[in-house]
Amino acid sequence: MPKNHKIGVFDSGIGGLSVARAVERAFQDAEVLFRHDSPEHFPYACKNPNEIFGYVLPIIQGMSEEDCDVIVVACNTVSTTLIGRLREAIAVPLIAVEPMIKPAAQITKSKVIAVCATPTTLASSRYHALKQQFAEHITIIEPDCADWSQLIERSEMKAERLHQSIDPALERGADVIVLGCTHYHWIEDEVNEIAEGRARVIQPEEAIIDRLRTVLELPG
Ligand code: DGL
Repeated sequence: MPKNHKIGVFDSGIGGLSVARAVERAFQDAEVLFRHDSPEHFPYACKNPNEIFGYVLPIIQGMSEEDCDVIVVACNTVSTTLIGRLREAIAVPLIAVEPMIKPAAQITKSKVIAVCATPTTLASSRYHALKQQFAEHITIIEPDCADWSQLIERSEMKAERLHQSIDPALERGADVIVLGCTHYHWIEDEVNEIAEGRARVIQPEEAIIDRLRTVLELPG
C-alpha cells in the first residue's frame, strides 16, 4: 500500500535518527526518509555556518528531489544558523529544530536553566534572539558540550564527562536542562539520571511531531 506522506529528516549524523524514529512512531502511515552527512564532514559542532551550508544544501536538495512533502532539519546547529538561506533555496517546507528556550523559561521555578548545545548553535544570532525574546530575566548556563556530539556519535560518552558539564549547572540551581542538539537525545536517560529530583530535562521531539501535524494538515 503506498504511504500517505513522505517526511524527510536530516542531520549531520545520528542525532537525526532519534528524531526520525520518533517521527516514524507518530506517523505510521508515512514514509520517513532519513539522510545524514558523511563522516568526513562530521561534527558540525564548531564549524562555520558557510562551510556547513556547502555540505547541507546538496543533501536537502536531493531530499526535495526525492519528493519529500516536508523536511525536518533535525540539527540545531543548521537550523539556528542556516534555516533562512535553506528556505530561500528549497521549495519544500522545512521544519527548524532549535533549543527550547521558550518552554524552559515558562517552566523554570528557580529562573536558572542550562542549555546544552554546540558552540556554533550558542554563537548564532537566532539563539541570541530566542534568549532575548523569551528569557531576558532568566539566568542561562551554557555548559561546555563542544565534544559531546562526537563522543555520542562514536558511542564514547561516559558518565564522568556528563557530570563534568552538568553538575556545575545543577549546583548553580538550574532546574531545567535543555537538550539543544539532537545527538544529545541519545543520552537523555543518562542526563535524567544525573538531574533526577533537581532538574527537568527537555528535548523537542514532541514539538516537532506537533509541527509536522500542522504542516501536513493532519488531526492532532
Ligand atoms: N545534531 C546536531 C545538532 O542538533 C549537531 C551535531 C554535530 O554535528 O556536531 O546541533
